[in-house]
Amino acid sequence: MTMETKMETRKDEVTDFEPRIVALVCNWCTYTGADLAGTSRLQYPANVRIVRLMCTGAVDMMYVLKALLEGADGVIVGGCHPGDCHYQSGNYKARRRIAMLKKVLGQVGCDEDRVWLRWISASEGKVFADTVTEMVAELKEKGPNPLKRMWMG
Ligand code: FES
Repeated sequence: MTMETKMETRKDEVTDFEPRIVALVCNWCTYTGADLAGTSRLQYPANVRIVRLMCTGAVDMMYVLKALLEGADGVIVGGCHPGDCHYQSGNYKARRRIAMLKKVLGQVGCDEDRVWLRWISASEGKVFADTVTEMVAELKEKGPNPLKRMWMG
C-alpha cells in the first residue's frame, strides 16, 4: 500500500466515521433507563453497545481502558444518582476512579472527554437517549480514538 493510498483510506475513515461507544451501566438505574428509552421508542443512534453491571462501583478502570484500546471511540459509565446507589457508595467510588483515569488518559495523549460519567435513573429514558446522541455528535467532531490506532496499528 502506497503512502497516498494509506492517506486516502484514513480520509475515508474520517468521512464515514461512525463512532463506537461502550456504555458500562448499572443494573438498577441506567440500564433500566436505557430499557425505558427502548420501550418508549425514543430515537437514538445505534452506535452504543451496552454492558450491564450490578453497580458502577463494579466498573474496574481496566474495563474502560480495554474498551478504548480495543476499538471504542468513547465510553459512558452510567449509574444511579448520588445518594441512590443500591450498594450505598458504588457510584462515589466510580466517580473517584473515573477522575483518576481521566488524568492517566491525558498523559497518554487520549482526550479525557472520551469517557463520560453520567447519573441516569430508571425513569430517565430520555436522558439516556440524549446522552448517547450527544456523545455520538461530539465523537464525530473529535474523530477516531487515537489510542485504538496506536494499539491496533
Ligand atoms: S447500584 Fe447503581 S450505581 Fe450503584
